[in-house]
Amino acid sequence: MTSTDVRPELAAGLTFPPGFTFGAATAAYQIEGAVDADGRGPSIWDTFSHTPGRTFEGHTGDVAVEHYTRYPQDVALMAELGLSAYRFSVAWSRVLPEGAGRVEQRGLDFYRRLVDELLGAGIDPWLTLYHWDLPQALQDRGGWTARDTAARFADYAGVVHDALGDRVRHWSTLNEPMCSALLGHMSGQHAPGERNPVAAARATHHLLLGHGLATQVLRERGADHLGVTLNFTPMTPATDRPEDVDAARRLDGQQNRMFLEPIVHGAYPADVVADLEAAGAPLPVEDGDLEVISAPLDWLGVNYYFESTVRVGVRSPDRPTSFIGAEDVVELDPEGPTTTMGWGISPDAFTRLLLWLGEEAPGLPLVVTENGSAWPDEPAEDGAVHDPERSDYLVRHLAAVTDAVAKGADVRGYFAWSLLDNYEWARGYAQRFGLVHVDYGTQRRTVKDSGRAYADILRRHRQAQEG
Ligand code: FCB
Repeated sequence: MTSTDVRPELAAGLTFPPGFTFGAATAAYQIEGAVDADGRGPSIWDTFSHTPGRTFEGHTGDVAVEHYTRYPQDVALMAELGLSAYRFSVAWSRVLPEGAGRVEQRGLDFYRRLVDELLGAGIDPWLTLYHWDLPQALQDRGGWTARDTAARFADYAGVVHDALGDRVRHWSTLNEPMCSALLGHMSGQHAPGERNPVAAARATHHLLLGHGLATQVLRERGADHLGVTLNFTPMTPATDRPEDVDAARRLDGQQNRMFLEPIVHGAYPADVVADLEAAGAPLPVEDGDLEVISAPLDWLGVNYYFESTVRVGVRSPDRPTSFIGAEDVVELDPEGPTTTMGWGISPDAFTRLLLWLGEEAPGLPLVVTENGSAWPDEPAEDGAVHDPERSDYLVRHLAAVTDAVAKGADVRGYFAWSLLDNYEWARGYAQRFGLVHVDYGTQRRTVKDSGRAYADILRRHRQAQEG
């Protein structure tokens, strides 16, 4: 791999703004395991992963990486890497096993222990309230297709803030509502596994409404470092033929602008509204919703992995589209090397994305809340995990961030996805994203070379700040 050669030099030359936050991210269902511990109720991911044919080789998060009991060791690893922050999510059904009503104190106690362990190690906890694991009891009442779920989410936000607001400063409502709405209800790749455009449009709006209502509840309780995480995939037309240009507009609309614009501009993009109405799947907006959804935030979380090139064409029947009314649009296979997810590698598109967001949301600080890559890592004979591809991806994407900052984007932090190898949703344990390798047989953790490369960059940043 030729680009590896430039990596140490590139890494050594990276400079970040003062106070820049460096962290790593995880999500509850991907790491905790202990799905029956301490009164936890089932979530849609328990149901989905236990449904035959839904996940790679039937993998589930039942055990995952046993973070529920091994969290002290995992926090010690974060300290060893020199992280200044850790982004994790709370499992709604640990706190409210039926989604609403009865609070399970033992669930809250787990997160309190985790947060105290982090604070004791000098690591700033960044808490996400929802990373896809809706309580099954709420799904049984319609899930995100039901407007009531948005109100239940706000109640849940209040319960968690009442328990942890004295020790957690950074709060985020949702992780990637696009995936919950469209992968969950349009392509059915994710829980709850529906394939229904009407449900997908309803879920989209109710997730955003839930974000807005939770924002109100958190503000009333004094939250002052509040954000939301969206996932962005830049969409480029494969040719300049009008139908391909329009295909890129449609996918960009639903992937990127349909989630960003209501939050930062207080309106859905008019072209997307028209596309969804034409597809018979309107957004169920009621009076006042957009004011709620667009309440001011303190930061915007940006998840970026790859870009996509699209054109009109015939989709293969085993790859249903995630986009409403876009059955005639295909995403091309990426050119050049791909990760084991099959995703391309485009750091330049990351720089352009951050600059575009700076223009779309002037004055709103950006935080990269996820970025990373999956590779087929295994420990070598020397016991170490040599993953030059991940180090290369990491350094080139960090350089993309510094480029964007140099050109004026206000980026305040970067969280690598992920701290640990973990349960990669429908792709199971076959996809390894961690800076730390996990042997799933023994649960042994080994810091990969990329973890050490990240630690070196963080150490140099700290020294530059201090010196
Ligand atoms: C993101 C998810 C995260 C992880 C990465 C690879 O879409 O937020 O949980 O699965 O992709």
